[in-house]
Amino acid sequence: MSKLNIAVLVSGSGSNLQCIIDACESGSIDAAVKIVISDRQEALGLERAKKKGIRAEFVDFKSFSGREEHEKACSALIDSECCGLVCLAGYMRLVTGWFVRKYQGRIMNIHPALLPAFPGAHAHRDVLAYGAKVSGCTVHFVDEEMDSGPIIIQTSVKVLESDTEETLGKRVLELEHKAYLEAIKLFSEGRLEISGRKVRVK
Ligand code: GRF
Repeated sequence: MSKLNIAVLVSGSGSNLQCIIDACESGSIDAAVKIVISDRQEALGLERAKKKGIRAEFVDFKSFSGREEHEKACSALIDSECCGLVCLAGYMRLVTGWFVRKYQGRIMNIHPALLPAFPGAHAHRDVLAYGAKVSGCTVHFVDEEMDSGPIIIQTSVKVLESDTEETLGKRVLELEHKAYLEAIKLFSEGRLEISGRKVRVK
């Protein structure tokens, strides 16, 4: 089986991206990050990629007439690197049905809460405001809804009374870094089977 090529889409810091790059580089995941794409020129994730000699592309949403057109440009880049897996890692855009169908079963996202609870862009704030006692992270395949799609891995952490968005976010991010790698490793080994809403680990 040939090595899995990965495309990672980021909008910000890219700490998850960094873990994926490092795991591929060290050989703990038998895959290679071939391209990093961002909708934000200033995304640190693009710098992280460049530092490792990985192709880094800024695709400006404003240059396109709509979401699908923007995604078509991203998709052309992804396909030019023959990527078998697309990882959304802090990518702050909702992808369209067109993009989801194109990469059906080979596009993943990570969310910093235990879905289906607390979807959206302010998960930690929402968890604290709700008074939840447990939070965590979810790696899932992407479908046409936001933070939806069959769940691959979830890991949890206790919410402390003293937690702020920042402290909870930091602990959850540590979980994310492990969970995303585990999900990608399983995918790269061909061990994830999607059946309806369920993901079976073979
Ligand atoms: C993570 O918390 C991820 O779950 C969310 O955005 C954040 C990205 O962090 N979708 P980073 O850019 O990987 O550091």
